[in-house]
Amino acid sequence: MVRTFPPEIALPTWVTPSLATRAGSVLPHRGGGPLSGAPRVAASPRYPPQVSFRPADRPRVHREVVSYVRRSARMNPSQERAWRGQSGRLLVDVPHGERSTSISPDATVDWATEFGRDAPLMVEIGSGRGEALAAVAEAHPDANVIGFEVFQPAVASTMSLLTREGITNARLVLADGVEGLRRLVAPGSLSQLAVFFPDPWHKARHHKRRLIDPTFAALAASRLALGAHWRLATDWEEYALAMREVLDAEPGLVNAEDGWAPRYVDRPLTKYEARGLAAGRTIYDLDYVRAPAEPLPDLVHRTPLPEPHGEPAW
Ligand SMILES: C[S@@+](CC[C@H](N)C(=O)[O-])C[C@H]1O[C@@H](n2cnc3c(N)ncnc32)[C@H](O)[C@@H]1O
Repeated sequence: MVRTFPPEIALPTWVTPSLATRAGSVLPHRGGGPLSGAPRVAASPRYPPQVSFRPADRPRVHREVVSYVRRSARMNPSQERAWRGQSGRLLVDVPHGERSTSISPDATVDWATEFGRDAPLMVEIGSGRGEALAAVAEAHPDANVIGFEVFQPAVASTMSLLTREGITNARLVLADGVEGLRRLVAPGSLSQLAVFFPDPWHKARHHKRRLIDPTFAALAASRLALGAHWRLATDWEEYALAMREVLDAEPGLVNAEDGWAPRYVDRPLTKYEARGLAAGRTIYDLDYVRAPAEPLPDLVHRTPLPEPHGEPAW
């Protein structure tokens, strides 16, 4: 991805965006707003020197490692229409934290009020364009189904799909599903959790961004009711093996199968799966069940670390 510098910054003539990016230097402020004049250039014996920019009127935003890429949220006209027309009905608007995708620590949601009924809760994290969310909601009319997705155009497409299919038992949250589980879902309250084709972050230096890690596994286990299923799928073999290792090691979960699971019956073919198949990759399904274990703590996800630079290659 080419990053462009805000036009108001006077850059030293030798700094091109690609140079600054390759040098791994701190990139210019992405959110606009007045900056504190010229960029600071730290003395360095290496070429090019390190360049950093800081907006004058903005405190430093606390960054955590997250499992998604921040990308443009531009919507096409049909997504715009769906967003305008359906978000009042389908979007659960939560107060955000420092990032637009984070959730305020004091946010609460009364799911029974949101759905207009009390029913078993099913969650999908990273619901994308909503194909699986819609299929699960349709197959389980007696459940309240929630999709957490950080990419607004995908949420808008899901709204279109749910409306077209006449599905009334699904709602969407435009936010990080890790925070959603932690802050908005009560321990032991889920009857199903789904994570299908999470971003693979296949480069070793990006593995820390993978959604499925031991901390998240413990959080997820803590939110499932006893006997409830956590269903996962991926087309990335090495990630599939890593998932097995992480989930097998989580004391609150047991593998429902003796190894890989058969394809989950309510999981439709999505663009991501089709792409993996077209590239000759194998699809791995996993199915874990919440087992009786010691009560799990209310977990805080991940230790804050600096955000890595660079874009994923998938
Ligand atoms: C590779 S796509 C797969 C989408 C969908 N599950 C499918 O199978 O078609 C991964 C999706 O997860 C979303 N995502 C990644 N991390 C997330 C998080 N922590 N919370 C919510 N959504 C997330 C991304 O925005 C993206 O839409």
